[in-house]
Amino acid sequence: MNKEKNNLIKEYEKKIKLIKKYNRQYYEKDSPSITDSEYDKIKERLVFLENEYKFFKKKGSVQNIVGSPPSKKFKKIKHKKAMLSLSNAFGKEDMNDFLKKIKNFLKSYDSTIDFFSEPKIDGISATLIYENGLLKTGLSRGDGETGEDILNNLKTISQIPKKIDAKQIPKILEIRGEVYIGKKDFETLKENFANPRNAAGGSLRQKFSEETAKIPLQFFAHGFGIVEPMIFKTQSEFLEKINQWGFSTNPHSKLVKNLNEIENHHKKIESLRASLDYDIDGLVYKVNNIELQSRLGNTSSSPRWATAYKFSSEKATTKIKDIAIQVGRTGAITPVAKVQPVTVGGVVVSNATLHNEDEINRKDIRIGDTVVIQRAGDVIPQVVSVDKTKRDTSSKKYIFPEKCLCGYKTRKEINVVTKKEDAVRRCLRGYDCDYTAKEKLKHIVSKEAFNIDGLGKKVIEQLWNLKIIKFPADIFNLDYNQILKLEGWGSLSIQNLKNAVKKASSIFLDKFIYSVGIRHIGQENAKIIGNFFISIDNFSNLFNPLKREKLLNNLNELDGIGNTQILSINNFFANQKNVEVIKALIGVLQIKNFKIINKKGKFSSKSLMFTGGFEKMSRSEAKSLAEEHGGKVLGNISKKLDILVVGNVKPTKKKIEKAKGLKIKIVSEEEWYDFLNI
Ligand code: IVH
Repeated sequence: MNKEKNNLIKEYEKKIKLIKKYNRQYYEKDSPSITDSEYDKIKERLVFLENEYKFFKKKGSVQNIVGSPPSKKFKKIKHKKAMLSLSNAFGKEDMNDFLKKIKNFLKSYDSTIDFFSEPKIDGISATLIYENGLLKTGLSRGDGETGEDILNNLKTISQIPKKIDAKQIPKILEIRGEVYIGKKDFETLKENFANPRNAAGGSLRQKFSEETAKIPLQFFAHGFGIVEPMIFKTQSEFLEKINQWGFSTNPHSKLVKNLNEIENHHKKIESLRASLDYDIDGLVYKVNNIELQSRLGNTSSSPRWATAYKFSSEKATTKIKDIAIQVGRTGAITPVAKVQPVTVGGVVVSNATLHNEDEINRKDIRIGDTVVIQRAGDVIPQVVSVDKTKRDTSSKKYIFPEKCLCGYKTRKEINVVTKKEDAVRRCLRGYDCDYTAKEKLKHIVSKEAFNIDGLGKKVIEQLWNLKIIKFPADIFNLDYNQILKLEGWGSLSIQNLKNAVKKASSIFLDKFIYSVGIRHIGQENAKIIGNFFISIDNFSNLFNPLKREKLLNNLNELDGIGNTQILSINNFFANQKNVEVIKALIGVLQIKNFKIINKKGKFSSKSLMFTGGFEKMSRSEAKSLAEEHGGKVLGNISKKLDILVVGNVKPTKKKIEKAKGLKIKIVSEEEWYDFLNI
């Protein structure tokens, strides 16, 4: 009996461990490695053991430890207004830049701009839409464009009003905020989750809202999506009002007016941080005036009117055991210090970036050195300084390898604009270098590119090592039967992967251009280029060297595209392998035409150019207004230009003459304001 009991206890403990492992896989968003039914079988067996044998009772109910895995089957709903992310600031200088950029954009140098500061809650974002005061829609952030319908789960949170009982509320009111779990409450949930944020995420994604209701979730409201009619003038007024309407808003918010006040407030809240019952990782600073917010608008990923000022980074001292090199998707060689594991701000760090060869030389960093490393926000830890007093006398200067991991020579290029040698060494073999190619694949599946769920960096690594994928098109021609046989894959994860790949194979031209990973072509530039070519057929003309030259000349006329980008595109397409890769992708994808955002705008199908300074607005604002009204902004005068807008402050005479010669319509600063009704 004793032996049997021992065996049962062993089995029980093993299965509990397994279940916890699978729970983590589920909750911590990577795709689960077993099917629901396999999971249920283990769970059933555990429940059986607990019910059957008294000696398990003391260990507590399996149900409590296990919970139920979050569902993947929520209805997808497109956000009425995209849920963007925030840019980051890591210190006073970054904040100064943020303030300067705003002033420049608004051309507001004399008047002060009020900023509203709020803690940045480390939770899960959600958005709630109230129609005539009734909570009708509740979505997760999803990829920012499309969220998941988690209304029923959100309704279990007591701090989320189901109904707003107040007069004069907007007909449509979208409230955005953060779902979180208090630090104290988390203590009882520790078993299942790595941290409160994961716990909140897992709980919100439960299939049955009764499960969600068991978890003590809380909600802080911090922003709005669509509001009709818009009745708020400032962020502070908005928060005050919705607080009266029953939403909980963070009490540690404050109106600040300048960098000094920002710094003081920041230090004050940082000193409170540990005593708060919820995790915060910095403060969000927002332009308080909502009209100014809309004038400032957004870049492709974040608003210009807000930033997250992270708390100062955490530092630790450790020793460099070795220096390894890593190859990035552009072939950039990055040295990485392998350090003795050390805890920095609660996270164990064993790798820290050394940036590039010049940085190692400048700081004279050597293997064996005692160094200070720091971790700020979610960025990769870095080596900041060396303690040379602790250096061994036998230590030798680190010689940076001249070869890539693929064995071929690397080069430092000459920057076309500055004419100086790059600090970064690169392997220029592109897809011919296995290391670069693998990174390119990781970029292709990333969130901002094809966004293939279940095909993260680790999976790419696995499939690459097994030679299942080598080129991007292989991702869309996977042999799923072969993958099913691999460790860690089950029928459920295969089905999810199939769905994700299928969904990703239909893509807009601009996303496609970004995804193929041309150096210097980020999301913004990809949009400009997408808008220029419109269709993949037109874009494919770049394969032809003769057509390419002409096209690139035209492309060069667009505002935002400069010599650096043109040269990079040219180099990219001059490489036959790249062309082959793109052709293969075109063969397996459905590439949709660029969506012209504002076809019916005042300037639709017109191209504009600005010269001289404007009194009421910056060049950037003028440009974004022109685009908002459907126009295309050029950087040069040519026959293709339709309108030259001449600002009153020092316009270039030559440009005006040239435009006149080409019979281009010339518009004065005053006429420009009339156009826009301002
Ligand atoms: S304002 C454009 N205020 O941080 C987004 N966001 O990286 C404007 N967050 O997903 C967001 N606390 O969910 C704002 N007080 C706060 C916040 C906050 C946490 C989250 C937000 C967003 C992420 C942005």
